[in-house]
Amino acid sequence: MTHVHVAGLTKAFGDRTVLDGVDFDVAPGEFVSVIGPSGSGKSTIFNMIAGLDTPDAGVVEAPKSAYMPQKDLLFPWRTVLDNTTLGLEIAGTNKKEARARARELFPVFGLDGYEKARPSEMSGGMRQRAALLRTVVQGREVLLLDEPFGALDSLTRTSMQEWLQNVWLDYRWTVLMITHDIREAVYLSDRVIVLSDKPARVRRQVEVPLPRPRRLDVVTTPEFARVESELMEVLISRSY
Ligand SMILES: Nc1ncnc2c1ncn2[C@@H]1O[C@H](COP(=O)(O)OP(=O)(O)O)[C@@H](O)[C@H]1O
Ligand SMILES: [Mg+2]
Repeated sequence: MTHVHVAGLTKAFGDRTVLDGVDFDVAPGEFVSVIGPSGSGKSTIFNMIAGLDTPDAGVVEAPKSAYMPQKDLLFPWRTVLDNTTLGLEIAGTNKKEARARARELFPVFGLDGYEKARPSEMSGGMRQRAALLRTVVQGREVLLLDEPFGALDSLTRTSMQEWLQNVWLDYRWTVLMITHDIREAVYLSDRVIVLSDKPARVRRQVEVPLPRPRRLDVVTTPEFARVESELMEVLISRSY
């Protein structure tokens, strides 16, 4: 079974080819990470899965997805609750229902009691969870997360990774996540897709056969190290 199907995806901006026949599939409930050099076209692929951009050639088949863009900022003048309802409001849900649905998720996202706070009153990790809540509350089966933890310090990032694994184990969304962090990709994913430098193609797909739930210290196991070094090798061998 396939939930997201990408085949022969090709895209140029002007005379610059960015994607050159990208192929991959994602199964329902699978957590897949995409890693690749900066500017290799990762966000462009997500834009097309989300239907915000169209390919020059190739196929993208996906149900309507919830997209958390690379810079998913909260509006400082809105309360946290009113930030988390934005996606629903844009999709046409009335405010009362949007608030009710978002409120239910506040405890799951560790934001209980912060409904009326402003983003400036929260830590970076909490703001990021609020942005994720805004994505998840849309009730879509497929989540597209573009570097969701990119702006966080390393300790906060680690605890967010553990937290995301745990909510994902409860909800089992199909997740596609872009990251620059190999360790984050291995820790969270069932499979990691490595893109080449641009024009991007899929260089390799690496399965992560580690049982779940994964404790944070799984990163010290030989099996984790094996996957991590395979990915490292593919990434650094690109242009030398
Ligand atoms: N709308 C656009 N118009 C022109 N060039 C773009 C546009 N979107 C992306 N690009 C270019 O395409 C390349 C890939 O961008 P992007 O998908 O954002 O890469 P990544 O997310 O892997 O860092 C970059 O060189 C970027 O400058
Ligand atoms: Mg990007």
